[in-house]
Amino acid sequence: MSRPKLAVLISGTGRNLQAILDACQDGRIAAEPALVVSSRPGVPGLEHAKARGVPTTVLDHRQYPRREDYDAALAQLLDRARADLIALAGFMRILTSGFARSHRGRLFNIHPSLLPRYPGLGTHAKVLAAGDPRHGASVHYVTDELDSGPVVLQGSVAVVPGDTAETLAERVMREVEIRIYPCVLAWAAAGRLKLDVGKIVLDGRALDAPLKIEEMDER
Ligand code: GRF
Repeated sequence: MSRPKLAVLISGTGRNLQAILDACQDGRIAAEPALVVSSRPGVPGLEHAKARGVPTTVLDHRQYPRREDYDAALAQLLDRARADLIALAGFMRILTSGFARSHRGRLFNIHPSLLPRYPGLGTHAKVLAAGDPRHGASVHYVTDELDSGPVVLQGSVAVVPGDTAETLAERVMREVEIRIYPCVLAWAAAGRLKLDVGKIVLDGRALDAPLKIEEMDER
């Protein structure tokens, strides 16, 4: 059976992208990286993809004043690449409901918070301002509401005295994000993970709650 094709959508540094491409390369994710799309030109993520021989395209958001036109162009690129799975990895665009609906069940995002807490931007600063003892990241299916689709897997770290938004972001990235995203995509690529009428199904069983990183290795 041929491997599903994976497209990754980025806007910046691309640390999640790198972790995903590493996992495709070493066989943890049984998918073929078919395309990397960046909404911004000249970002480091594009170089990581090129260095691994993955086709890249820049779809510059500034050239599309209308959101619908941007998403139509994006859908066309993904169709042409025959992408089966689409991973948003630091993609700084809000997709239209139409796009989310037509790619439902194969569109994933990583968000740096323990959803449903703190959708949107500035999560690390919000956690510090609220005095939360823990912070983390979530991988979720994308539906038509911002950062609110069903969460598959979450991981958390302790907030420690002296933390700044930067130190916290780095810890969440290193200890959580680059571990949980490849894992979810591996399940999806292997056909083990599905979205069934709003319910997440892993290995034929519906999940009642998001999985925790501690349970990841048992799966
Ligand atoms: C990550 O924190 C991700 O959760 C958020 O944007 C950041 C992207 O970082 N959505 P990178 O481009 O993967 O390094």
